[in-house]
Amino acid sequence: MSHSALIELSGISKVYSIETLETHALRNINLQVNKGEFVSIAGASGCGKSTLLSIIGLLDVASAGQYFLAGHDASSLDRDERARLRNKEIGFVFQSFNLISDLSVYENIELPLTYRSDLSDSAVREIVLESLNTVDMMSRKDHFPSQLSGGQQQRVAVARAIGGSPSMILADEPCGNLDSKNAESVMQLLEQLHAGGATICMVTHDPKSALRAQRYVELFDGQIVSDEPIAAHTKERVLANIINELALVGA
Ligand SMILES: Nc1ncnc2c1ncn2[C@@H]1O[C@H](COP(=O)(O)OP(=O)(O)OP(=O)(O)O)[C@@H](O)[C@H]1O
Ligand SMILES: [Mg+2]
Repeated sequence: MSHSALIELSGISKVYSIETLETHALRNINLQVNKGEFVSIAGASGCGKSTLLSIIGLLDVASAGQYFLAGHDASSLDRDERARLRNKEIGFVFQSFNLISDLSVYENIELPLTYRSDLSDSAVREIVLESLNTVDMMSRKDHFPSQLSGGQQQRVAVARAIGGSPSMILADEPCGNLDSKNAESVMQLLEQLHAGGATICMVTHDPKSALRAQRYVELFDGQIVSDEPIAAHTKERVLANIINELALVGA
């Protein structure tokens, strides 16, 4: 088998066991994502979206199945190798921003880069400044996260995610805590990164954001129930679902 896809999951399952309760968070997931794709991952609360992202992002390991990331077999990596690959190849953006409150905007973006043995101090400085520029936060570089709006904090989180030029960006509800104006600016930022060649997997509850990707993967109860390019008919179907749900709420 060749592993030309950036992300290649086959037969991935994840079972969480807490005392006597077993949760099958993912069941037999087969998914390939090529370099440069922008994929949205949708589905009801608890269907396994974050679990899938944490396995793709090497934050967690599967209970069964195989995962190849850029040709590396994830199961053959030890903890340190996983951490190194994660830091180099993957940028994370979470719903809750996850910035470090004691560090300035500049230092938050700088931190993951300081673990990179391949980057000199001056290279790190250059990357931080360039990332600040990309997300239009240069004027706030010495602020602390608590001194920023939610949208600004999320832009810093995006800057931190893209700083190391990762091969992919994993975003888990990146607009979940933002008002519509800030959500729009984060979505535009993701689209801009995608246009620049980034591979993006974005979990979202919001169908309007989901439809801005190129491909729509839907989970139900730990399984992929649809996986299709986003075309006019996808939009119609997703919008029809929303209208149905609204009708049910209204009934
Ligand atoms: N660390 C954990 N330990 C035990 N069970 C877990 C753990 N993380 C997730 N689960 C369970 O696995 C299932 C999938 O959870 P997951 O967080 O992936 O869902 P999700 O699709 O991201 O939901 P949401 O949209 O609410 O964020 C849920 O039933 C959840 O309770
Ligand atoms: Mg989740």
